[in-house]
Amino acid sequence: MSSENQISEQSVNQAVSDALALIASAVDLDSLRAVRSAAIGESSAIAKLNAALATTANDQKAAAGKLVGQARAQLNQAFSSAEEQFYAVAAAAKLAAEAVDMSAVINTIPVGGRHPLSLLQDEISDVFVGMGWQIAEGPELESEWFNFDALNFDADHPARAMQDTFFVEPASAHLVLRTHTSPVQIRSMLERELPIYVLCPGRVFRTDELDATHTPVFHQVEGLAIDKGLTMADLKGTLEHFAKIMFGEEAKIRLRPSFFPFTEPSAELDVWHPGAKGGARWVEWGGCGMVNPNVLLACGIDPEVHSGFAFGMGIERTLMFRNDVKDMRDMVEGDVRFTQHFGMVL
Ligand code: DAH
Repeated sequence: MSSENQISEQSVNQAVSDALALIASAVDLDSLRAVRSAAIGESSAIAKLNAALATTANDQKAAAGKLVGQARAQLNQAFSSAEEQFYAVAAAAKLAAEAVDMSAVINTIPVGGRHPLSLLQDEISDVFVGMGWQIAEGPELESEWFNFDALNFDADHPARAMQDTFFVEPASAHLVLRTHTSPVQIRSMLERELPIYVLCPGRVFRTDELDATHTPVFHQVEGLAIDKGLTMADLKGTLEHFAKIMFGEEAKIRLRPSFFPFTEPSAELDVWHPGAKGGARWVEWGGCGMVNPNVLLACGIDPEVHSGFAFGMGIERTLMFRNDVKDMRDMVEGDVRFTQHFGMVL
């Protein structure tokens, strides 16, 4: 047996301090495991001293055993506490690496918002639903008869060309993209029981180029009331109420004589817009009138018994002067920044 394997206080202390130095040299779990064998394992000095117990003289065995046993306990303890520390550090590092920052701004695709035109259309509908009116709809691809003939437009009435209509092939089908929401008046009169109070919002089409004040696809809202004894006063009262809700209590309306084939008399409708940018002023808002008796007759309604009024206005135009939108193109480009400006409502 070599002298270094002799069990003595000195050799045991040496083995212990060498092993402790090895353990202390480890910087993480991996390097600690790498020194395990040399510090406390098979090839460690303390293991060799432990093995030397077998050949220690009997009378020294107890003392030597105690010395070596205490040293082994001390080293095992030192090793496992180092191991525990490195475990804790590794676990903390892992947790930190896998941490989810609940406060981080996440990169999601923003949800869309309702378009201000849809919101305005709903707001207008609500005004009339609140008065007991119903909402009516018709097709965007409309028969020429509903769009023009039944509304009392002559076959060669200039309005047919004036409205710059999209005619849809084949010409023999006599289909057009509706140029206004007025054909829904006819559909309502043909389909519904009297009396009729309907509001018809919808998309209409004209062959205009897109610019700051025109778009080939836009929206109108049409109103139609058919009852016994309706007069121009009912029309005026209804429009006044509508104008006040849209533009404020100080809003008022005025009617200027005009012509539409489906109303007689007909009028241009102006609204006094108290909140107009640059000061209160009159703005052209739409057309209106008493339903022409020819139209009532075309729908099987006796003009001697029933009368009616109608009106129609553009929703884009309303949004433009109500909310001071300068350029029609902002409404059709679908840029969410335009929509956000009006407050996103989902
Ligand atoms: N349809 C007409 C247009 O597009 C607007 C209109 C005028 C509608 C008078 C009406 C009305 O109901 O009575 O220019």
